[in-house]
Amino acid sequence: MRSKNVEREIEELRETLRRHEYLYYVLDQPEISDAEYDGMMRRLQKLESQHPELVTPDSPTQRVGGKPREGFVKVRHSSPMLSLDNALNEDEMRDFDRRVRSLLGDERFEYVAELKLDGLSMAVHYHDHRMRQAVTRGDGQVGEDVTENARTIRSLPLKTRSDPAAFESRGEVIMPRKALEKLNAEREQQQLSLFANPRNAAAGALRALEPAITASRQLEFFAYFLYVDGKFYSETQWEALQTLTQLGFKVNPYKAKCSGLDEVIEFYRHWETKRESLPYEIDGVVIKVNSVRQQQALGWTAKAPRWAVAFKFAAHQAETAIEDIQVYVGRTGALTPVAFLKPVNIGGVTVSRASLHNEDEIGRLGVEIGDRVLVERSGDVIPKVVRVVRKGHERRPFRMPKHCPVCGGEVVREEGEAASRCINTNCPARLQQSILHFAARGVMDIDGLGDVLVDQLVTRGMLKSVADIYDLKLDQLLELDRMGQKSAEKILRNIDASRKQPLPRVLNGLGIPFVGERTAQILADTFGSLDAIVDADEETLQQAEEVGPKVSESIRQFFHERRNRELVERLREARLTFEHTVRKKSSGPLAGKIFVLTGTLPNLAREEAKARIEAGGGKVTGSVSKKTDYLLAGADPGSKLDKAKDLGIPVVDEAEFLAMLKGSRSAAE
Ligand code: IVH
Repeated sequence: MRSKNVEREIEELRETLRRHEYLYYVLDQPEISDAEYDGMMRRLQKLESQHPELVTPDSPTQRVGGKPREGFVKVRHSSPMLSLDNALNEDEMRDFDRRVRSLLGDERFEYVAELKLDGLSMAVHYHDHRMRQAVTRGDGQVGEDVTENARTIRSLPLKTRSDPAAFESRGEVIMPRKALEKLNAEREQQQLSLFANPRNAAAGALRALEPAITASRQLEFFAYFLYVDGKFYSETQWEALQTLTQLGFKVNPYKAKCSGLDEVIEFYRHWETKRESLPYEIDGVVIKVNSVRQQQALGWTAKAPRWAVAFKFAAHQAETAIEDIQVYVGRTGALTPVAFLKPVNIGGVTVSRASLHNEDEIGRLGVEIGDRVLVERSGDVIPKVVRVVRKGHERRPFRMPKHCPVCGGEVVREEGEAASRCINTNCPARLQQSILHFAARGVMDIDGLGDVLVDQLVTRGMLKSVADIYDLKLDQLLELDRMGQKSAEKILRNIDASRKQPLPRVLNGLGIPFVGERTAQILADTFGSLDAIVDADEETLQQAEEVGPKVSESIRQFFHERRNRELVERLREARLTFEHTVRKKSSGPLAGKIFVLTGTLPNLAREEAKARIEAGGGKVTGSVSKKTDYLLAGADPGSKLDKAKDLGIPVVDEAEFLAMLKGSRSAAE
């Protein structure tokens, strides 16, 4: 029986969690430990799963509640989301300032200078203090409804604390550098192409078909506009930023009120030199006339406001010469051609190498050794060769070697693949990379087992397999260059501690192509032990969520190889974790049941109904099929009702549905 106490505890937990989310994600000033936060979150999840009828979409548990979807609904913006004109240098900025001054006559005015965040813009709608809908910019007129994914952005409030109650906030969704690095490292491991910049990566994450993917990408939302009834809410941009802050939004702290062009240029120059110190990418500053009345007087062109401009930083590009092209051998044996450049300073960083990815890319660029090229550095991503500027006098084409530069083994390029690979599975370069991956942070976390050490251990024959890590002895380590007793002991302690790493990490550490952190977690959750995964055939493997033919084939092939099975046996002997407590399968009164919604329910909004079904262990899908268990129908149902009747699928109304949730009517009835 539900008591008032439970309701009160749930509401208190929500309020407390919201406050700590705000302190952590918006203000960057946590007051409690992650463990305390997790503890409260688990308690709330538990209470909500026992009382699914109390779940609301603004509960902190609902950020990642959504299930995969088939596409995004198009939504027309309340007013167009236009773009900004660019000023590419100080002269163009002066032109902008002159135009503003002449259009405003003799009136005094101020600018607000903000950072130009390198992400994508998004509009978020709130009613009754609650986040209701988030829409991407799209073509400026029509965007895509990404509400479920946007909910996973922790700095975006699901519930606001002050007035106005109904409004629209527009701002920028960004992916911090660290998150992009991590994502690209995972993609490299899965042999997927890397994201060239944070903007593309953020856009990809926001449009992921599964909210859990968006959640894992650590996106942030910085708000910069506030509209009520389609109009700017405040009298000035500066006030709008204050109000957004009060509402609980993350507003970029680096902003300035400028009384004229000189101060604007000062702000710009400051951030041009300091941009690298930020945890995210910026590509310029945005200058806005502060007063909304003056903004209205200046008006808009068809494309952009006349009262604002994007004052862009010069692209991080420079010309230099390619002195050589050499290949690197990765963990999977893939050979990556790397351009060795005459060192060049690009935006304060000396660049001497750039990846050329593969033979096709070299062909596309038409680049040869000795050429002068334009090199670009965007964010933390590997510098890239943009194009050939001038062909070298004595240029020399690059040819992919027929033999591995490290072990001399045969190099093969399979049909349909971009990469050429060394096929010697004992290649020391492959071994070295495999060991580094196994020991890496976030995998087995063996601190101290880095590049230089692994290189020595492999060269001296002390590591011939990943499993040899667990046989390393103190005197062996002490033989190595610059290795003291203390460091050696510490490394051995770290190796020992890694035996306790959970199964998903062990699985990730094996380096099975296409099995990264996430897939490893899913496999462990689904099968519960390493042995069950080793023994599973492809069909069985595909029962795991997100595992399709490509991944299952790769896993099968991996464990088919004798050397990999031997590796597994040796890791078992080394007492690594092979078992896994499977996360509880969905439980609750609606466990495993598939619902389709149609029509308008008397009390529950669609979103609320969906959240409650999911919290009760059920699923919601978009269309009626033989797999559907129930159609939840309200007023004015569509063709789904006819279809459900045709297929003999039970139709329930809101009251019956609520009864099912309380368990007074079993879902199996
Ligand atoms: S204001 C009418 N402020 O830059 C559009 N935009 O190049 C006014 N951006 O589409 C936008 N940081 O995606 C504004 N502080 C900021 C911004 C910002 C990044 C992006 C935004 C916009 C693009 C225009």
